[in-house]
Amino acid sequence: MIRIPFNRPFATGKEIDYIRAAIATPKLSGDGPYTAQCHGLLEQSLGIQKALLTTSCTHALEMAALLLEIEPEDEVIVPSFTFPSAANAFALRRAKPVFVDIRADTLNIDESQIEQRITERTKAIFVVHYAGVGCEMDTILAIARRHGIGVVEDNAHGLYGRYRGRYLGALGRLATLSFHETKNFTCGEGGALLINDAQFNERAEILREKGTDRSRFFRGEVDKYTWVDIGSSYLPSDLLAAFLRAQLEHRDQIQSRRRQIWEAYARELASWAKTNGVRLPIVPPECEQSYHMFYAIMPSLESRQALISHLAGLGILAVFHYLPLHLSPMGLRFGERQGDCIVTENLSDRLLRLPFFTGMSTSEQSQVIDAVRAFRC
Ligand SMILES: Cc1ncc(COP(=O)(O)O)c(C=O)c1O
Repeated sequence: MIRIPFNRPFATGKEIDYIRAAIATPKLSGDGPYTAQCHGLLEQSLGIQKALLTTSCTHALEMAALLLEIEPEDEVIVPSFTFPSAANAFALRRAKPVFVDIRADTLNIDESQIEQRITERTKAIFVVHYAGVGCEMDTILAIARRHGIGVVEDNAHGLYGRYRGRYLGALGRLATLSFHETKNFTCGEGGALLINDAQFNERAEILREKGTDRSRFFRGEVDKYTWVDIGSSYLPSDLLAAFLRAQLEHRDQIQSRRRQIWEAYARELASWAKTNGVRLPIVPPECEQSYHMFYAIMPSLESRQALISHLAGLGILAVFHYLPLHLSPMGLRFGERQGDCIVTENLSDRLLRLPFFTGMSTSEQSQVIDAVRAFRC
């Protein structure tokens, strides 16, 4: 039986008050007062010009693909080591994902391999700040500028992480966030699109509101609303925004607790890792991470599986992470082969994530640390 889960969603206590208040208002659908408050909190804290809540990070990525007008036969650069959502967003537009390998240190897209994969069909680069540690954005943005293509930051992991002092999500033309229950800030399922290029503002609102100009209508800018473009329903209920507002307002409490947990793992497992040939996360000096996850890179697939079983035997759930997208059934359909992203293939087999959640008690974390230290590779 699992005693210490991999994740346990955290609530600050304020969520229920805001949900009660939301129920008392005449508006439960999207873009009510709580949604506006979340937009304001994100825009002010990140110093960005526009945030739009969405029903998931996946949907925010789909909106990014629509805004960049990704079309059939276009190519989009994406790391193989990520969740399927980014690649799926442009596969939905019948565009082709071009998978790039990751760096062995941060597990972020290897910026030195991007330019050689750019062709005249390349429309965008989608990057992921893995574990909330920033990609080498100066280099990536310079490549994108040289080729006149857009950069989208999939920042599902990295809200409030920084790269060279600037917030992740404020660097690309567009960026996305996830508020799924496993993330630092959550409303169960949810996300946001961050818009750093104001030319997308109006169309983003239309795409998110079923292809209509309803947002303008609600602001009193037009006297009726109608179908003006393609779109879908990407806006969450104000009830979810009420939950999320409580979380975003507790940024300092949430982030400082997560930092303590992360640092305790790093400190307490350092000598075990050294003795057993295990690699712990690397955070380059130019990055301030978001304290989203704690992982270990084990010496082999066998030792990774053995540690998962050892922990499960003690009632502790540790998990692996992304399977290489280029070798997934969908990735293979785009003509990818084993050996195309060797660092991804190697590290994906060996990576293990330890239980990590805001409400984790010191005693729970000590049990995990003791259990890991008792394992020999
Ligand atoms: C990098 C990345 N992008 C996107 C997603 C999808 O997020 P959501 O569940 O909010 O759609 C995930 C899921 O964890 C993720 O890890």
